[in-house]
Formats: sequence, structure tokens, C-alpha cells
Amino acid sequence: MKKILVTGGTGYIGSHTVVELIEHDYEVVIFDNLSNSSEQPLQRIEQITGVRPTFVQGDIRDPIALDKLFAHDDFDSVIHFAGLKSVGESVSQPLEYYQNNVQGSLSLFYAMAEHNCFRIVFSSSATVYGDPDSLPITEDFPLSVTNPYGQTKLMIENILRDLSAADERWQVSILRYFNPVSAHPSGLLGEDPKGIPNNLLPFIAQVATGRLKQLSIFGADYDTPDGTGVRDYIHIVDLARAHLQALTRLAVGHGCQSYNIGTGKGYSVFEMISAFERASDASVNYRIEPRRAGDIAECYAEVSRAQAALGWRSELGIDRMMEDLWRWQSKNPRGYEA
Ligand code: NAD
Ligand code: UFG
Repeated sequence: MKKILVTGGTGYIGSHTVVELIEHDYEVVIFDNLSNSSEQPLQRIEQITGVRPTFVQGDIRDPIALDKLFAHDDFDSVIHFAGLKSVGESVSQPLEYYQNNVQGSLSLFYAMAEHNCFRIVFSSSATVYGDPDSLPITEDFPLSVTNPYGQTKLMIENILRDLSAADERWQVSILRYFNPVSAHPSGLLGEDPKGIPNNLLPFIAQVATGRLKQLSIFGADYDTPDGTGVRDYIHIVDLARAHLQALTRLAVGHGCQSYNIGTGKGYSVFEMISAFERASDASVNYRIEPRRAGDIAECYAEVSRAQAALGWRSELGIDRMMEDLWRWQSKNPRGYEA
């Protein structure tokens, strides 16, 4: 059984990926400081898979804790989710973001190298493409960022590319996620944002359960078919499965490669609201507001590289995204708190 270290494994994407790993006979050790999560997902993972993953509470900025972690276990690979992820917060607290994401990642890579572990899957984001000149976005589009969060993702990508160029033992898969949404079909795992959600789908779901009053649509005057922003939303279970394919690819060896992880299709805010209403029978109260600073009109991926090299493609469409989201939200209206 291969042992995988999952940093940030109690978070939204990490917890869903851990389920897939366990279901595919990997042994998992989660390392998380719980700054944006709790231990609740560990029980839920156990309910789904029958296995409770090993959990170590710790911070990737703590070299001593990392050294202990790697000395105790022999990891085949690392999947690195740990980090802060709010664009807005990164603008007001850049130091926190550079320290958590960049310094934390550097400490992790040091510990890996010292303990002869050179395989890593890294969570990057479509934000590294900035405002693209054309669509769909391919992996060789120019990289540019407009906020400190994006900057940290690009810096970590660059560090990994340099490591791989300097030492061929490093095998790196950079996964650039588009817009991860929805929940595990069991209704036991899902996204549980702290405070008021920044992202569209958790916001819609909380309006539908009455936890929030009204959705603000940030701009209906974009140059898109219905004027609202278009994004490439991807079901969290599809996204989680991409990590398994990436691990398999690392074992074969490919140096450092980046992959878009999306569906290749964009949906507008209005289309997402309609699909959610169809799945839930709830109605979503909304108001059109001015555009949100920093938003782009449209963003969707070209996904053929992931298909060809990883043998991965998304399978779950917009209706399944909404059904699974609604199951999670209606069973857990206050997230893991309840
Ligand atoms: P999340 O906040 O739910 O999960 C991140 C986890 O990392 C949390 O459990 C948090 O407690 C932990 N963590 C944060 N800083 C840490 C530190 N210093 N040491 C140890 N643990 C730490 O976020 P998510 O949505 O699951 O995102 C996972 C990764 O994917 C992040 O790196 C994020 O930037 C990236 N990503 C997310 C999205 C998205 O829309 N959710 C899109 C693109 C990329
Ligand atoms: N939107 C609203 N109202 C809301 C929230 C969002 O109308 O309350 C709209 C946005 O304007 C956008 C679309 O819904 O058109 C999607 O917005 P999200 O905030 O859900 O997602 P973004 O595409 O803006 O951001 C996501 C991640 C970021 C990442 C970015 C680029 O949350 O971390 O993709 O990859 F940087």
C-alpha cells in the first residue's frame, strides 16, 4: 500500500481527495493546522470509506514538525493542498499569504528533499492565467497574476519548475483547478466556508436554505451571452479523481508538468442559478449589482492535455453538481457545525 502525505487534507478539496485515495487502496496521512477546517471531515471520511485516515495537526511553516512527520513515515508522494485561498483577503493581508503559502511550501519541499521524497502534486489555480486574451485557455498561455494570492501560486509553480530542472528526481504535477464546486454524493462531505462565502455556489446554496437573504450578481453587463460572468465549474469528485491520475503519472516520471483541471465548458451565473433551482425546487432571490473588482468576463479550460497525459476527464455534469450540492446543503445547513 502506497503511503501519501496530504497537506491541507481536512479542507474542502483535500477531504474529497482523501476519500478517493482510500477507495483506491492508498494509505493516507493528513497534515493540517485546522486554520480553515476542523476534525469533523475525518469522521465523515470514515463513514464513507470505513477507514479513518491518520491525522497530524501541524503547520507547513514549522520545519521541526515536518521533519518529525517525514522521519516517522516513508511517503511515496505528497499532495499539497495546504494554503490560504481568498483573493480579497490576500490583497489586505499579503504578508500572511506569502508566509503561509510560499514559506510554508518551501519548508515542505526542504523536508521532502531531506527525506528523499521527490514526488508531488500541487494545487494551483486558473488564476495564474490572469485575464486571458482568448479562450479556451491552454496550459502554455502566458502566466500573469493580479493579486497576492495568485502571485503565491505562480511563485510556488516557479519554485517547483526550478527544482525539477535542477534535479531529475523531482517529479511534479501542477494541477490548475478551474472552479471546484459541489459535494460528495453521500451528502456527508462538502464545502463549509467560514463566514459569508466568497464563491458563487456556496452563496446560492445558503440563500436557498434561508441562511443568507439574497444573492448579489456581480455584473450583468459583461460581453457574454447573458451579460453575467462565465466560468468552468468542475464537480469536486471529478477534481479529486484527477489527483489519483496525477499520482500514477508521477510514478512513471514526467519531470514537471502543468495540467488544466476543468470541464472545458463555461456556464454563466444565470445558468448556474437556473440549474440549482431545477435540482433543489428552491428559488434563489437575487439582485444585480455592479461588477466585483478584479473579476474577468469569461474563463474556461482546454482540457486535452490532462486527457492525453493523465487519462483523466470530467464526467459529472451541471445537473449532478447541483443535486450533490443540494443534498449536502440540505443535510448540513450549517456545515459541519450542526
Ligand atoms: P481549504 O481552505 O478548504 O483547504 C485548505 C486546508 O489547508 C485547510 O484545511 C487549512 O486548515 C489548511 N492550511 C492552511 N494553511 C496551512 C498551513 N500553514 N499548514 C497546514 N495546513 C494549512 O481550501 P480548498 O478549497 O480545499 O483548497 C485547497 C487548495 O486548492 C489550496 O491550495 C487552494 O489555493 C487551491 N485552490 C482552490 C480553489 C477553490 O476554488 N477551492 C481553486 C484553485 C486552487
Ligand atoms: N459571483 C456573483 N456573486 C457572488 C459570487 C460570485 O455574481 O456572490 C460571480 C462572479 O462574478 C463570477 C462567478 O460568479 O462571475 C464565479 O465567481 P466565484 O467567486 O465563485 O469564482 P471566481 O471565478 O471569481 O474565483 C475562483 C476562485 C479563486 C480563483 C479564481 C480563478 O475562487 O480563488 O477562480 O481561478 F483565483
